[in-house]
Amino acid sequence: MFDFTHYLAAKKTVDDRALNRPVLEQLVINLPEQTVAAPLHVLEVAAGIGTMLERLLEWDVLTNVVYTALDQQATYLAEAARRLPQWAAQQGFQVESTSPQQFKLQRAGQYITVNLVAADLFDFMRLAENQGQWDLLIAHAFLDLVDLSVALPQILELLKPNGLYYFTINFDGETILLPQIQWNTEVINNYHWAMNQPQKVGGTRSGRMLFPQLQAAGAQILAAGSSDWVVYPHHNGYLHEEAYFLHCIIDTIEATLHGKTPLNLTAWLAQRHAQIERGELIYIAHQLDFCGISQPPSSIWRGSKNYPLSLGEG
Ligand SMILES: C[S@@+](CC[C@H](N)C(=O)[O-])C[C@H]1O[C@@H](n2cnc3c(N)ncnc32)[C@H](O)[C@@H]1O
Repeated sequence: MFDFTHYLAAKKTVDDRALNRPVLEQLVINLPEQTVAAPLHVLEVAAGIGTMLERLLEWDVLTNVVYTALDQQATYLAEAARRLPQWAAQQGFQVESTSPQQFKLQRAGQYITVNLVAADLFDFMRLAENQGQWDLLIAHAFLDLVDLSVALPQILELLKPNGLYYFTINFDGETILLPQIQWNTEVINNYHWAMNQPQKVGGTRSGRMLFPQLQAAGAQILAAGSSDWVVYPHHNGYLHEEAYFLHCIIDTIEATLHGKTPLNLTAWLAQRHAQIERGELIYIAHQLDFCGISQPPSSIWRGSKNYPLSLGEG
């Protein structure tokens, strides 16, 4: 099996391209003022190795913030603690480590405190002291791994009144692999079927289900849009570390289907890995991004859009 921290690093450039720009724009427009005296309190749940923080600093979205990056895997946060200061120094930040879990990044116009918290999100949410604390809540490539009807209302409780959420890269039911090869349709159908089994949380329709689930949780959607992953060979092959990313995707399909399909996957897997090595494989995954406010909107918007909680297929 692949190295997940390496996968998260390789995924960064794929996500950079994928993130929906009008949704990001709404986030930027609606962010409260950030000053050194009154920094924004940002919580990223399931932050992995911290690539979203890097991105939001690279894109100047965050200027004066206390950024708490939470993940249940201490090893991922250890990787964040290793790579973030190095990355920040390369970007011209002065870096001061105040403890192994906290550092401060400073450059003209930007003052960032980073806290790394190794904890299970559901344990973290049970603590009253964490409720209603955050101006901005980020969940990136995570909400399709949880039961939205249970997790979403609790996650939104973490925000201050009228706090902002930014929920990105939520899988929404399409996995496309090209060129077409034998058994591909069966493999992908089985892969999606396995994701939708009752014992699995999340599932292939998590992206679209955010519309009714956000509404049911009393939140307002400011913007929503596609954030599809599109990975293909350029004239010199795949960009950055995206060949590794693709091998991880094929390994994930293998792991998801292991013992759950009558199909003999060996030939399919070998062909797909070989196509990556030859620079032939094209991969597209359909996903959705959302940005909004934890409180319901004014009556006009709410009355005119009532999303059913059971969205159909297709
Ligand atoms: C697909 S990864 C995404 C990581 C990161 N957001 C990114 O895109 O680079 C999902 C992350 O969710 C974290 N995770 C899963 N369940 C969690 C939980 N209950 N509490 C905290 N983190 C969790 C995993 O450890 C993993 O880092």
